[in-house]
Amino acid sequence: MKKWLLGLTLLAVIGAGTLYRSAMREVALVVDTAPAAANTATVQQGAYIARTANCIGCHTTRGGAAFAGGLGIATPFGTIYSSNLTPDQKTGIGSWTAAEFWRAMHHGQSKDGRLLYPAFPYTSYTNMSRADSDALFAYLRSQTPVTHVNRAHELRFPYGLQVSLGVWRTLYFTPGSSVAEPGRDAQWQRGAYLVRGAGHCGACHTPRDSLAGSDNSRELQGAMMLAQSWYAPTLAGLHDVDIVQLLKAGHDGQRFVSGPMAEIVHGSTQYLDDADAQAISVFLKSLPPAPAASNAPALSVTSQAMAEAGGKIYEQHCVSCHGADGKGIKGAYPPLAGSRAVLAANPANLAQMTLNGGFAVSTASNARPFGMPPFAPLLNDAEVAAVLTYIRTAWGNQAGAVSELQVRRTP
Ligand code: HEC
Ligand code: HEC
Ligand code: HEC
Repeated sequence: MKKWLLGLTLLAVIGAGTLYRSAMREVALVVDTAPAAANTATVQQGAYIARTANCIGCHTTRGGAAFAGGLGIATPFGTIYSSNLTPDQKTGIGSWTAAEFWRAMHHGQSKDGRLLYPAFPYTSYTNMSRADSDALFAYLRSQTPVTHVNRAHELRFPYGLQVSLGVWRTLYFTPGSSVAEPGRDAQWQRGAYLVRGAGHCGACHTPRDSLAGSDNSRELQGAMMLAQSWYAPTLAGLHDVDIVQLLKAGHDGQRFVSGPMAEIVHGSTQYLDDADAQAISVFLKSLPPAPAASNAPALSVTSQAMAEAGGKIYEQHCVSCHGADGKGIKGAYPPLAGSRAVLAANPANLAQMTLNGGFAVSTASNARPFGMPPFAPLLNDAEVAAVLTYIRTAWGNQAGAVSELQVRRTP
């Protein structure tokens, strides 16, 4: 943490001038074009985009009014609270114009010019078109106004300072950076537009550097989520995966997504129309494969002993659902033999699942998913590490051992 602090303070000092100039330039860019006529078709288009972008997922608290904001988003710098997007005059966006809304989506600035935190993924939304932004605005304006005052962020010094954020933006944010790539067909362009824009897939799947800026040279190559012990795996090289089914049903017959991706499927991708889901799949399958992670490291003597101990734990606690051959039961319990999830370079999600259990996402085509019980009450960290080391090396699986420390880091 100290390194971040020092880095940012330094940057804040040297960057203040640049910030001021770039803020002025951004403000000057906002020109009000003709406001969208809020007809029914536009509102419906906006509703579809809102789902594709999962706006409601971050702008609604559990049990709270839709779009009224107030959800706390944990970051390494503190907690950032989402804003009220209902058309309430005083506490929501009731007094905003379509141009002010566009400025938030495209430039990451609030109505009063305040720079917004990228916990609001405008670094992706900036790639959306003005027409889509206007449709979203029309849709939000059609919601019931809810009075709910925005909650102040709880950020550690110096992250709460606008100047620190300004410096971050000069380093990592270029408004509207999506350009059509030559030599690609319309379906590919649509997929790229959805993934890089509304879908904000890179917000989780693209690695970040030490100041939490996305490293776009490794676009979608897999990343640990910020301040959460979930790993969003690489989306490159999924050539044999039924991505359309994964996005719409939450599973591909083999793998059932859980955790944050289950939320994305539930609130967002299950509603994609077939053409858009197909376009996303085409785009993802065109990504160059990520450099191979060093798989199959030789197991040390200790981890072999761990795997043996893990085999006994597997017999006792896991075999009833996942089977002695690790093949699971089709349609109910996922296979662990040959599973992408089990072989993942980063074992964070395995520890997550085993400690906290999980339900696959309930979707139209998988309405009553099977669940996995949490094992945190039954197994200690060393035992979880052992059983995970076992499943990563049994049945021909060849992935690295999982240490007790890796399990302990999982809340
Ligand atoms: C990953 C979480 C997340 C998602 C998804 C998300 N937002 Fe937000 N949004 C936030 C947070 C957090 C803030 C507060 C940022 C700040 O105050 O600096 C915010 C702020 C905003 C603001 C600025 C409001 C103001 O009063 O300044 C607008 C407008 C907005 N979001 C619109 C949207 C729309 C439209 C969508 C869907 C297309 C969306 N957001 C999706 C987290 C999210
Ligand atoms: C909020 C973070 C987040 C966002 C946004 C997100 N994902 Fe994910 N995604 C994850 C995590 C975490 C996993 C791992 C879940 C698991 O293993 O069960 C995952 C898993 C996946 C998988 C399964 C990969 C495999 O090897 O089986 C696919 C495919 C996927 N995501 C596609 C997408 C696409 C396409 C988008 C954008 C439309 C997207 N994700 C947006 C966090 C996210
Ligand atoms: C009662 C049945 C049951 C038992 C017992 C059980 N699981 Fe599971 N397991 C499931 C189900 C159902 C899923 C899919 C749930 C989801 O995706 O959220 C799953 C998913 C998993 C996954 C993720 C697979 C993937 O494709 O994402 C792993 C890893 C796993 N289990 C390991 C274990 C281990 C290790 C044990 C024993 C300590 C165990 N399970 C015991 C039912 C079970």
